Amino acid sequence: MKDLFGKALLDYQNGRYTENIITSTNISEEDDLPLPYLFRSFKEMPKLEQKALKLAKGSILDVGCGAGSHSLYLQEKGFKVKAIDISKGAIEVAKQRGILHAEVKHILNETENFDTILLLMNGTGIFQELVQVSKYLSHLKSLLNSNGQIFIDSSDIQYMYEDEDGGVWMDMNAAYHGELDYFLSYKGDEEDPMKWLYLDFEKLQLACETVGLKCELVAEGEHFDYLAQLSL
Ligand SMILES: C[S@@+](CC[C@H](N)C(=O)[O-])C[C@H]1O[C@@H](n2cnc3c(N)ncnc32)[C@H](O)[C@@H]1O
Repeated sequence: MKDLFGKALLDYQNGRYTENIITSTNISEEDDLPLPYLFRSFKEMPKLEQKALKLAKGSILDVGCGAGSHSLYLQEKGFKVKAIDISKGAIEVAKQRGILHAEVKHILNETENFDTILLLMNGTGIFQELVQVSKYLSHLKSLLNSNGQIFIDSSDIQYMYEDEDGGVWMDMNAAYHGELDYFLSYKGDEEDPMKWLYLDFEKLQLACETVGLKCELVAEGEHFDYLAQLSL
């Protein structure tokens, strides 16, 4: 990993913002990911993220914290927050923004226990592929205190396979429609391709059942997106 995501966050944080990150997937054209969005305030966050932050309690783990916007809000509210990310640049930025406990760490290497675990901005993306969902969910479950909760958001991206007349061109023999190849470039440099998973609520609920987690729909967004609460 070249950590172009982290490089972009560091540039923005340190006054070198000239370009946005460009993303694309195997089923969609190039799109801008505006860097200021990754530094959003509570007011600028989508309603689903605001809801998750309002329901957070106790000790909190922010998984894939990025620039640390969710952690920062919660820390300012007086919560004990740990922010982790596999991106060195992201963790450097989170620290520069004042997150007291930020670490470069893959979620599968986390071992502490928490009352609230957050996975936000398509939190299921980190699972990468459908076959890996139960491994990640089991691990997240092992990190929960007995009254703990996980907030995770995602969306059903079936709409991305629809043509203008509403017809669906999905290959029914292909892999799950939420499994995407994700490409990112920044300032002319290309990141190694990644896998990124969008999971519809029913599939998430089913996967939770298989690992013994309760899965409840907290809220739905305006574009097939949702926030779920997982608990023991
Ligand atoms: C879409 S960004 C979301 C950032 C932040 N949560 C936000 O809402 O602005 C996903 C983040 O997850 C991190 N990430 C990906 N896989 C991870 C893993 N296995 N463990 C921890 N972080 C991971 C990426 O480096 C990236 O910063």
